[in-house]
Amino acid sequence: MRRLALLFAGGALWLLLAAVPVLADGGPHVASINSGVGGISADSCAGCHRAHTAQTDSLLQAATEEGLCLSCHGSTATGATTNVENGVQYALASASSGTVRDTSVILGALRGGGFVTSAIGSDSTVRVAYLSGSAVRENAKVPVKVDAGGAITGQAVTSTHFDLGNPDFVGMAWGNGPVSATPDPGGDTELTCTSCHNPHGNNQYRILNPIPVVGSGTAVAATTDVDVTDAPLPQAGDTRNYTVIQLKGTESAPSTYLLYASQVVAGSYSNVAGDYLHRKLPWNGVNGTANDAPNGLPSTFDTQITAWCTQCHTRYASDGASSDSGDAIFTHRHYTAGKGMACTTCHVAHGSNAQMTGIYSANMDYPGGAAAPVGDSRLLKIDNRGTCQACHDPTGTITVGTQVGPTPNPILP
Ligand code: HEC
Ligand code: HEC
Ligand code: HEC
Ligand code: HEC
Ligand code: HEC
Ligand code: HEC
Repeated sequence: MRRLALLFAGGALWLLLAAVPVLADGGPHVASINSGVGGISADSCAGCHRAHTAQTDSLLQAATEEGLCLSCHGSTATGATTNVENGVQYALASASSGTVRDTSVILGALRGGGFVTSAIGSDSTVRVAYLSGSAVRENAKVPVKVDAGGAITGQAVTSTHFDLGNPDFVGMAWGNGPVSATPDPGGDTELTCTSCHNPHGNNQYRILNPIPVVGSGTAVAATTDVDVTDAPLPQAGDTRNYTVIQLKGTESAPSTYLLYASQVVAGSYSNVAGDYLHRKLPWNGVNGTANDAPNGLPSTFDTQITAWCTQCHTRYASDGASSDSGDAIFTHRHYTAGKGMACTTCHVAHGSNAQMTGIYSANMDYPGGAAAPVGDSRLLKIDNRGTCQACHDPTGTITVGTQVGPTPNPILP
C-alpha cells in the first residue's frame, strides 16, 4: 500500500480515480470482484500478489502472510481503516487523499481487540441489578479503555489468538476433536490470519471461512460449513463500522442495528463509546431480547458466531452446565449459547489487555493441566474473573437498582 501511495504521488491520477471506490467498498476482499462475476478487470489482485517479484509461495507481495495483512491493517499502514495491531478503527480518508485511513481521526475501538495493544476497559466494568420476573439479574457494560484525561488508550495485550511475530506459529486448538473418555485437550495447528479469514472475500460476516483452515498438526478440520450471515456492503465512499459502538433497532431492512462508519461520524459518537460485553443492546436494557448484532441480525448472530468458533474448539459449545458430556476434560461446561450469550460475549477474537493478577486467575493451567503463561488472559474482556460477576451475584445479597463500578462516559450505547 505504501508503494501504491508513491505511485499516486508520481502523478497516475487516472489510477487513483479508478481505485478509490473499490477500496472504500469493503477493501480488496469483495467476492463479486475477485470471483470475476463483476467483470474480468479486478484491480484488487495487485494489492496482494506479484506475478514475478513475489516474496512467498502464494505469490504474495510481502514476505509473510501476516506481513501482507499488516501492510494495510497494521499500526503504521494507511491501506485500511482498521488497525488490528492496536485494536482501533480510524475514519475513512477523503477520496482525494489517495489513502484509505485518515490517521488523524480514531473512529472507535475494534470489537476484536488488538494483537499488540488493545483498548478494552477491562478494569472499569459497570454493573446494574434489575428485576426479571421475581429474580434479580445483572446487566453490565465493559467500556472502552481511557486515560486520565478520558481519551481512548491502549494497553499491552496479555493474550492473543496467535503470535503475530512468529510466521510459523503453532498452537493448541483447545477442545478440538470429538468427545473423548480419555483425556485429550485438543489438537495443535498452525494459525494465521487466513486460518479464519478468506482474503478473496466470500460474502460471509468478516469474510470468516465457513470451514476454518487448520494447518499441519494434529487438529482436525471441520467438515460442514458454518455460515455467519453478512450485512450489505456500504455505499462507495463509506466503510463498515467495526467498532464496539452499536445501537438497538429493528431487524427488518433498513436495519438500524447497523451503523456504517459515516453514521458513527454523523451521529457524533465519541470514540470511547460502545460496550465490549455487548450482551444486550443497550447494555442496561431490561425489556425484550436485543442481542449483539454487528451484522444487523440480533436473532441469529449469537448462535452463528458460537457455531463458528466451535468449528475448531469443537467441545466448548454447550447449552447448559448440568449434563455430563462424557468427556474426561470438558465434562461440565457453562452455557455458551442462548440466554444472550455467545463465545464472543466473554472473549474477543484477536487479543485482550485484561489483567489477570489474582492468585487463581493468573495461574490457571490450560485444559488437561499444561502450564499457561502467568497472567494469560484467555482473550477475556474483564480483569481476573470479573467476567463471572458481570452476569452473576452468587451471594444473592445485591438488591435491584444497585450499581457497582464506575459510571461509564458515555453511559450509552
Ligand atoms: C491492500 C490493502 C489490504 C490488504 C493487503 C488486506 N486488507 Fe483487509 N481490508 C482492507 C480494506 C480497505 C478493508 C475495508 C475495511 C477497512 O477499511 O478496514 C478491509 C477489510 C477487511 C476485513 C473485514 C471484512 C468485512 O467483511 O467487512 C477483514 C476481516 C480483513 N480485511 C482481513 C484481512 C486479512 C486477513 C488480510 C491478509 C490476508 C488482509 N485483510 C489484507 C484492505 C486490505
Ligand atoms: C487481500 C489480499 C489478497 C487479494 C486482494 C487477492 N489475494 Fe489471492 N491470495 C491471498 C493470500 C493471502 C493467499 C494465500 C492464502 C489463501 O489462499 O487463503 C492467496 C492465494 C491465491 C491463490 C491460490 C489459491 C489456492 O487455493 O491455492 C490464487 C490463485 C490467488 N490468490 C489469486 C488471486 C487473484 C486472481 C486475485 C484478484 C482477483 C487475488 N488473488 C486477490 C491474498 C490475496
Ligand atoms: C482465530 C480466528 C481469527 C484469526 C487468526 C484472525 N481473526 Fe480477524 N476476526 C476474527 C473474528 C471472529 C472476527 C469478528 C470479531 C467480532 O465480531 O467480534 C474478526 C474480525 C476482524 C476484523 C474486523 C475488525 C474487528 O476487530 O472486529 C479485521 C480487520 C480482521 N479480523 C483482520 C485480521 C487480521 C489482519 C488477522 C491476522 C493478523 C486476523 N484477523 C486474525 C477471527 C480471526
Ligand atoms: C460465560 C463466559 C464464557 C463463554 C460464553 C465462553 N467462554 Fe471460553 N473461557 C471463559 C473463561 C472464564 C475461561 C478461562 C478458563 C476457565 O475459567 O475455564 C475461558 C477459556 C477458554 C479457552 C482457553 C482454554 C481454557 O479452557 O482455559 C478457550 C479455547 C475458550 N474459552 C473457548 C471458548 C469457546 C469456543 C466458546 C464458545 C463455544 C467460549 N469459550 C465461550 C469464559 C467463557
Ligand atoms: C482455526 C481454528 C480456530 C478457530 C476458528 C478459533 N480458534 Fe481459538 N484457538 C485456536 C488455537 C490454535 C489456539 C491456541 C493459540 C495459542 O496457543 O496461543 C486458540 C486459542 C484460543 C483461546 C485461548 C487463548 C489463550 O490465551 O491461551 C481462546 C479463549 C479461544 N481460542 C477462543 C476462540 C473463540 C472465542 C473463537 C471464535 C471467535 C475461536 N477461538 C476460534 C484455534 C481456533
Ligand atoms: C454473559 C453472562 C454470563 C457470564 C459472563 C457468566 N455467566 Fe454463569 N450463567 C449465566 C446464565 C444466563 C446462566 C443460566 C442460569 C441463569 O439463568 O441464571 C448461568 C449459569 C451458571 C451456573 C449454573 C450452572 C447450572 O448448572 O445451571 C454457574 C455455576 C455459573 N453460571 C457460573 C459462572 C462462572 C463461574 C462464570 C465465570 C467463569 C460465569 N458463570 C459467567 C450467565 C453468565
